[in-house]
Amino acid sequence: MAVKTLDDLLAEGVSGRGVLVRSDLNVPLDDDGTITDPGRIRASVPTLKRLAEAGAKVVVTAHLGRPKSGPEPKFSLGPVAVALSEQLDRHVQLASDVVGTDALARAEGLTDGDVLLLENVRFDSRETSKDDGERLALAKQLVELVGDDGAFVSDGFGVVHRKQASVYDVATLLPHYAGTLVAAEVTVLRQLTGSEERPFAVVVGGSKVSDKLAVIESLAEKADSLLIGGGMCFTFLASQGASVGTSLLEEDMIDTCRKLLETYGDVIHVPVDIVVADEFKADATPEIVRADRIPDGKMGLDIGPGSVERFTNLLSNARTVFWNGPMGVFEFPAFAAGTKGVAEAIITATGKGAFSVVGGGDSAAAVRQLGLPEDGFSHISTGGGASLEYLEGKTLPGLAVLEE
Ligand code: 3PG
Repeated sequence: MAVKTLDDLLAEGVSGRGVLVRSDLNVPLDDDGTITDPGRIRASVPTLKRLAEAGAKVVVTAHLGRPKSGPEPKFSLGPVAVALSEQLDRHVQLASDVVGTDALARAEGLTDGDVLLLENVRFDSRETSKDDGERLALAKQLVELVGDDGAFVSDGFGVVHRKQASVYDVATLLPHYAGTLVAAEVTVLRQLTGSEERPFAVVVGGSKVSDKLAVIESLAEKADSLLIGGGMCFTFLASQGASVGTSLLEEDMIDTCRKLLETYGDVIHVPVDIVVADEFKADATPEIVRADRIPDGKMGLDIGPGSVERFTNLLSNARTVFWNGPMGVFEFPAFAAGTKGVAEAIITATGKGAFSVVGGGDSAAAVRQLGLPEDGFSHISTGGGASLEYLEGKTLPGLAVLEE
């Protein structure tokens, strides 16, 4: 069955109806609670705006971080409600609970075009429960907030890989539709997986090999080159016998990395030099060393200029590019050159006609924080884990349920 979209819902009519929207408003905050990258809030606005303008009573549910045991002030959606109000150009009320008395009272008081944001849905442990009954119970309470003729719009692309109450179970209870963000993201990822335009270059970084192993394996099959940087490169380097000093290392992944290099040695490329320092600090003194000779007591915090040059060459004639994960600690200016250099190489390839996708999370944040032009890429996904699982070919519960 084809997935219904927001256009279908608007055509059916939403004026005066309650519409529950799952957005992904999981944005990074600094220690003072200031949002450091509002990309996901901005990306959530079009669906919410269209619904509010069409006179729906909009109830938004979203998560922030991974609270462990009930409400924790540092994971409140308070700062997000303020930013969302600004972006939407209309007041967004914040309920102080998820499905409690405040949420109920506010939902009942909504008038056409109002937008209500519920407090962090993960403050209710049933959201992420593995017990179907527990999740369904929460989903039923969420559905009550939009009444009998309510509808559900799934717009949190970054969370569609999670089988959670507000993502999956609510869709089993209400007429459901893909929001504009989910529809756009799926279109782009489908285009990427179906692209016949070669060379196909993949750049993978970030800290953990174990998180990205499956996608590395599946993309190594398809790609012409797969460039590895970031914290995970040290496990690959160690598997080749390199000394990696005090750099990040996943010992239990060394064998797997070695096998990957044996199988896909002509596709996978690791850095040739590394920027190291004595400690993980913004003002640590950077030093460039050979990738296979990181001195004892030094840790790698970025790929070096020789690696950037090599990766740039490999990207220069690419026609399709997927990038996920920074090349180094880009948050520290002294260790940002690798990420910036690779991003610039992808922008150059895009300018020459390549189709390029930045896969969410930290790499999307890096583009914005390093002041790189967002429109230099064909698409910047809001989904980190979600886009990776899509590319691995996994079934994403939050998408599959929209087809039912
Ligand atoms: C993300 O940040 O990738 C999404 O918001 C999902 O968050 P999660 O990994 O905590 O489920």
